[in-house]
Amino acid sequence: MRLVFLGRPGAGKGTQALRAATEFDLVHVSTGELLRTAMRQGTKLGKEAKGYVDEGRLVPDELVVKLVEESLRRVPDRKGFVLDGFPRNLAQAEALEEALRVQGEVLDAVVYFAVRSDTVLERLSGRRTCPKCGRNYHVKLMPPASDGRCDACGVELIQRKDDRPDAIRERLSIYDKETAPLIDFYRARGALVEVPGDDDEESVARRVSTALATLSDRSGRG
Ligand code: AP5
Repeated sequence: MRLVFLGRPGAGKGTQALRAATEFDLVHVSTGELLRTAMRQGTKLGKEAKGYVDEGRLVPDELVVKLVEESLRRVPDRKGFVLDGFPRNLAQAEALEEALRVQGEVLDAVVYFAVRSDTVLERLSGRRTCPKCGRNYHVKLMPPASDGRCDACGVELIQRKDDRPDAIRERLSIYDKETAPLIDFYRARGALVEVPGDDDEESVARRVSTALATLSDRSGRG
């Protein structure tokens, strides 16, 4: 399966993409995570992206499109992928269509997580992240087993710079202007699968799983 997970910041795309990738044996490509890794490693891309990411603005298309094209080229034959956080505007959606067209492929579905504003504000303001492995927690909704430390690495959790109030506002406003039009773009192509995303992680995961199981049977590949 070739999938895009779409939704507002904090909609749960990353959380659900990780689960879907495990369940359906897909490669998970998160542009946010790739950019944060590049920033942690201090690469050229990381240095170029840092100001944009920290302030909640979109990284320029040419950098992100190249990053995604490289990631898709590394997806093994016969294996599918789930794109999380890409595309984020019309130009990126068209670049993705073209990259797939060249390989004789199309997207199987775009899963759109519909969430209320109060849900995303609560999730983003309480999110804590492991600076080593990138795993997400939430101070109230998904706390780690040991206070303030990553279950997997034992490292102290941090708050992402773009999870501070001014950056959250900026990200939500950019989403409304640039990313939300993709809902109609993919609906018009018959690719949109809408999943209500306000409930707890398990309930949302069950909905995703049911929708993807049907698609997986049809597409006949991972
Ligand atoms: P990115 O990392 O993609 O940020 P985002 O889209 O704002 O998404 P989030 O990671 O904030 O939210 P999510 O929907 O993945 O939710 P999550 O599962 O983590 O991008 C960051 C930045 O990189 C961008 O602002 C931009 O600068 C740059 N960038 C990335 N892609 C780009 C692109 N294509 N073009 C240009 N620039 C780009 O969940 C959030 C919290 O809620 C967590 O704490 C989680 O534990 C909790 N949670 C999740 N689901 C549930 C649930 N069902 N119930 C309770 N809690 C839940």
